Amino acid sequence: MKLTTKQIERFDDEGYLFFPSLFTREEIGVLLAEVPRLYAQHRTENVREKGSDAVRTNFAAHMYSEPFGRLARHPRMVEPAMQMFGEPVYMHQFKINGKMAFDGDVWQWHQDYGTWKNDDDMPEPRAMNVAIFLDEVNEFNGPLMFIPGSHKLGVLDAAHDTSTTSYPLWTINHDTIAQLVGRGGIVAPKGTAGSMILFHSCLVHASTSNLSPWNRVSVYLSLCAVSNHIRRFKRPEYIAHRDFNPIDCLPDDCLLKPYPVRLPWRDGTPAAALTA
Ligand code: SIN
Ligand code: MN
Repeated sequence: MKLTTKQIERFDDEGYLFFPSLFTREEIGVLLAEVPRLYAQHRTENVREKGSDAVRTNFAAHMYSEPFGRLARHPRMVEPAMQMFGEPVYMHQFKINGKMAFDGDVWQWHQDYGTWKNDDDMPEPRAMNVAIFLDEVNEFNGPLMFIPGSHKLGVLDAAHDTSTTSYPLWTINHDTIAQLVGRGGIVAPKGTAGSMILFHSCLVHASTSNLSPWNRVSVYLSLCAVSNHIRRFKRPEYIAHRDFNPIDCLPDDCLLKPYPVRLPWRDGTPAAALTA
């Protein structure tokens, strides 16, 4: 999928692009059908919500699940990132965030590149998040919120919050957020399952808890320009990948046809990939 000049200008201005209903119901069905099996597993890659059995995030499913292995090579998700960076990309991180009905907890205000720089020594913010909705996202189930234009400020000061949720995050203080929102406002792209968002790794974002009866499962591919690969291996490989080989895209119908994919962790994740 190729972005137009207008879309690229808009991305440069606002820090994100929204593609409503980009994937069909049938394509999303293939992915959604796999989620309960993955979430039911008791494995390190499933991070559960604080005080609950609900999965907050599942890491690296593209390494052990066939449908997600194919999604990780989907041209609608991968090609726009290659186009933006003008070079091949590799998978820095792959996650399926639950934000489950009633249990889904907040994601505090943060920038992803803050973590990638501080923890992983990624040289530049030349990595992109591409999110796909597996459920409808509405105003009640904790949509992702962005501060448009905030990506232009580069890396903002952040503090390591290890206590608010079950997952540690470098978060931005409330005074800074109030100032940024005063200038840029807040947007929250909402839409049907199958919608996709592309967002800059310095774009400030967050989401509230999900008190609604509707799950908000979304998949996030963090695609990094190959030449910009991480230099420090402080976090385990299942969170910050170390295979810097370019992603080879499959054909556009890859969610509906059983193209073979390599699933190196299908029979279990090697112990070395689960520890720092
Ligand atoms: C994230 O920022 O990585 C996830 C936010 C969300 O899923 O709401
Ligand atoms: Mn994030």
